[in-house]
Amino acid sequence: MKDLNQKANSQEHVNGHEHDLIARSKSNDFDTSTFDKDEELVDPFCVEESPQKITFEDVTSAAFKIKCGVINTPCVKSRLSDMTGIDLYLKKDFLQTTGSFKERGARYALLMLPEEQKQIGVISASLGNHALALCYHGYKLGIPVTVVMPVVAPIMKIAACRQYGANVIVEGLDMREAKRIALRHAKEKRLTYINGYDHPDIMAGQGTLGLEIVEQVSNIDAVVVPIGGGGLIAGVALAVKTLHPNVMIIGVESERCPSFYMARKADRPTLANIDSTLADGLAVPMVGYNAFATANPLIDKLVVVKEEWIAIAILKLVENEKCIVEGAGATGLAAILAGQLDELKGKRVVLLLCGGNIDTTILGRCLERGLAAEGRLLKFMVTVSDRPGGIAELCRKLANIGVSIKDIMHERAWIMSDIFSVEVKVVCETRDRDHAEQLKNMLYQNYQRVVFGTSDVSTLNLPQRA
Ligand SMILES: Cc1ncc(COP(=O)(O)O)c(C=O)c1O
Repeated sequence: MKDLNQKANSQEHVNGHEHDLIARSKSNDFDTSTFDKDEELVDPFCVEESPQKITFEDVTSAAFKIKCGVINTPCVKSRLSDMTGIDLYLKKDFLQTTGSFKERGARYALLMLPEEQKQIGVISASLGNHALALCYHGYKLGIPVTVVMPVVAPIMKIAACRQYGANVIVEGLDMREAKRIALRHAKEKRLTYINGYDHPDIMAGQGTLGLEIVEQVSNIDAVVVPIGGGGLIAGVALAVKTLHPNVMIIGVESERCPSFYMARKADRPTLANIDSTLADGLAVPMVGYNAFATANPLIDKLVVVKEEWIAIAILKLVENEKCIVEGAGATGLAAILAGQLDELKGKRVVLLLCGGNIDTTILGRCLERGLAAEGRLLKFMVTVSDRPGGIAELCRKLANIGVSIKDIMHERAWIMSDIFSVEVKVVCETRDRDHAEQLKNMLYQNYQRVVFGTSDVSTLNLPQRA
């Protein structure tokens, strides 16, 4: 580690892939006037040619050092066990002060800085959880922290970072740009750049989660871990597999950012296309070199989940566990609900609920999407008779099968066909998928023109289990 710090201060290492990334960015959307200068911007802790694998001793050292500064969160049996047929345990790391496991790595990385560097300070680029964790622990430890957050970062998180007295720079259209800006600042101000998933101390800190779960739950068969840049799974897999080599390590990504899947295919970290996802914490286009080197040999299975299942998992966690978890933290349950981990039935499995920082409006939308995807919230349009009682009859028919109307609206003027018809748009609630099917059948039997599905809620087009 001492060696690495020396490298960090001299800033002399060349990171091949970083160049690649910058070059691509240049051709896409960046201001090219700073390109020559940016070519020298590298993170000496994360070098493609010499990836650092962390060791079990790094994780135990982190556990010892951060013990007083982070919460040993509960890992308890889930009420979803019966429903899923899996003996499920939930590690509730969203209960950390800043709402995510990122505090573990952030605190350890700060504590491991050489004294002089503790005075000068650190910098990082982050959309949220890592920034929050770094700002909070920098504040607690008296170490100056600068974070560069891209303009798309949630305002709530930007404000929270400022509240800890950190220097918060909101600049850059996306994470790639924010990172370049942060690296430039690091170079100019001699700040240490701390990558949120690939810095070796970050990975070691995240590994303490693995140590805690094997202490809290006996005879674990599998641990399911969300993957963004790969730091969390690297640390956790190392800790768990070292102590219990037979425990399965399962990584989960969103289909919108399958960067570990792409890296496995290419056998090295490679750029993946990413789209906006409910699991925004996982939206990292390329996994870390160190994280990939450490985690890849230890992962037994990798699953890529669909967005709809993430929304359903968020809903299930709210309804059954009273846990508010962000998309990234819900991907493990999403994979189980989607039927992608059916081999775990009857087994004892730990799910990492690793973050809870979800925007209130996004949470509201997720709950609606979850209800819609489950067929419990439906929107349809039906053409009924314009005679007195036509709409009342529709309402009666819905009431007779126990469907509750949330919203109803009718349209006359723009109906092209029958002048004696009226088009009625309904948003309604059903109990479950079977109930939704019953509604569908009733409508098709009684009305000639019924259309399900609109732009904002998916309807009877329920996600199919894998
Ligand atoms: C809530 C949450 N879960 C999981 C992850 C993935 O961690 P990593 O990037 O170390 O793979 C992140 C990353 O930010 C996160 O915020």
